[in-house]
Amino acid sequence: VTKLVIDTDPGVDDAFAIALAALSEDVELLGVTTVFGNVGLDNTTRNARRVLALCKRGDVPVAEGAARPLVHPHPHRARYVHGVDGLSGRSAALPEPERPVERGGAVRLLARLLEDSDDPVTIVPIGPLTNIATLLAARPDLHHKIARVVIMGGALLHGNTSAAAEFNIWSDPEAAQRVLGGGEVPCVLVPMDLTYRCAVDRAWLDALAASGPVGAALTALTPDYLAHYRKALGWDGMVLHDAVAVAEAISPGILRTEAVPVAVETSFGPARGATLVDQRRPELRADTEVPETGAPVSVAVDTDVDALRTFFAE
Ligand code: BDR
Ligand code: CA
Repeated sequence: VTKLVIDTDPGVDDAFAIALAALSEDVELLGVTTVFGNVGLDNTTRNARRVLALCKRGDVPVAEGAARPLVHPHPHRARYVHGVDGLSGRSAALPEPERPVERGGAVRLLARLLEDSDDPVTIVPIGPLTNIATLLAARPDLHHKIARVVIMGGALLHGNTSAAAEFNIWSDPEAAQRVLGGGEVPCVLVPMDLTYRCAVDRAWLDALAASGPVGAALTALTPDYLAHYRKALGWDGMVLHDAVAVAEAISPGILRTEAVPVAVETSFGPARGATLVDQRRPELRADTEVPETGAPVSVAVDTDVDALRTFFAE
């Protein structure tokens, strides 16, 4: 079975993604680390622990990571998407976690889980990449223990936080460039171009709500998120961005990927946080004598959307 660690900033779609991994029999969820992002770090940590408690996974250790980006002094938040507490203002309805937060922080927990595992581990960052960049910088001796880093992030055509950038990358572009552009570990990038195509509708949510107590509790976290996506999509549904990346981590190949060079724009101009995907044919790159920027990354470009929605629900 695949061994997984999720790095997360819950977030409504993060909550669905954590539940997907926590309840899957095909993976061993070794731990969850938290990062600032959709809301502040206190809230993201509390939310992650509560979602695990909902799934009766008090055995999974949780450690708290970065409260701000590597370089920029201020975290940006997305309360306008996920509500005041990150879960549509409904997080208090989830069970109180019993297991305390791990001491020593996210990077130490990640390092310990990699050290202790006999098999390589898949890391699934579904928030800003600050913790993962720090891990790669601090522990090059552990790179070989990382099977893949399956990242929800990036935008090929246009962003959601700015015209150019997707939220997770925009939140810490320097960290994203270290992870994606460094070529140090194999990366899969699951961009919003694909996650949007996997949006779920009201009927899907109603069926989930009727499926049992966990489905009902998750669905109860969605009102503010649905209100945002009604505007973003133009219809009554929502995008489970982070769950698309977790699905690929659980079931490698469920998304079709293409290997292309990727670099992240880190200037403080209007394209800050853009993911630059070099889609020129290699022959053309050679002709123009302008080499690719960035490292080869497997970018998720397609999937069987109906099969993926069924996979989530099951
Ligand atoms: C990403 O940003 C966050 O709001 C979501 O949780 C997801 O990780 C989508 O751009
Ligand atoms: Ca997220």
